[in-house]
Amino acid sequence: MRTIAVVARKGGAGKTTVAAHLALAAHLRGRKTLLADADPQGSSSEVMRGRTGDGPGAVEAPGRALAAVQMTSVRQGHEALVIDTPGSFDEAVAQAVALSDLVLMVVRPTFLDLAAALQTAEVVRKLRKPHLVVLNQAPPPRDGVEPPAVKKALEALRVMRLPVAPALLRSRAIYQTALEAGRSVEESMDAAAAREVGELWAFVERFAFAARPASREEAGERAFSIAATR
Ligand SMILES: Nc1ncnc2c1ncn2[C@@H]1O[C@H](COP(=O)(O)OP(=O)(O)O)[C@@H](O)[C@H]1O
Ligand SMILES: [Mg+2]
Repeated sequence: MRTIAVVARKGGAGKTTVAAHLALAAHLRGRKTLLADADPQGSSSEVMRGRTGDGPGAVEAPGRALAAVQMTSVRQGHEALVIDTPGSFDEAVAQAVALSDLVLMVVRPTFLDLAAALQTAEVVRKLRKPHLVVLNQAPPPRDGVEPPAVKKALEALRVMRLPVAPALLRSRAIYQTALEAGRSVEESMDAAAAREVGELWAFVERFAFAARPASREEAGERAFSIAATR
């Protein structure tokens, strides 16, 4: 089983949106998946309660419950455990990071989110955890050109030597409305949003499920160079 922690020190960055979409993406591709909600606010549990039909498992796992949840999910034969975390970098987040094989840092293209990412990166690096930035709520390109905020964010992340997933999530209302019914944008009519999430999952899957650690390093290098040349 692979454990993926979705973190950001900022509330509203999109942790729940990304965690729920990745858990749904893994489920839709036939991987037995559990979404663990380590945020006492319980947003991702709420999202999954709204879903009809089959879906990933969902469990509330605040604070110290996380390690036990991980052990149980291995026993139950889960292939992927996605952890949604609270905004403040408290014990629950540190534990989620410590238990994970891959840490996804959700960052909006704003100065404050980038500053917060730098703090998170320190912890993640100390724990030597493979990590990737997911740039979320990026404004859409105009005439095929990235908006200045996105360019600046990618440049800042390059300077911070943080690998960036090559699939950005744009700011789109469908991310909000789809989750209201517990569904992924991949199950909606919005082809552009579906493509973003599909690409993000494909990359995360290669990264997290790589057979040997070296290939994770390679994937990180690749992510970095793609982001740098955008
Ligand atoms: N890519 C996106 N496009 C549009 N709205 C988004 C996007 N990502 C998140 N949101 C919205 O932003 C708000 C905060 O997102 P959420 O996932 O709850 O953040 P967090 O869990 O980090 O606090 C929610 O209303 C969510 O629907
Ligand atoms: Mg949340």
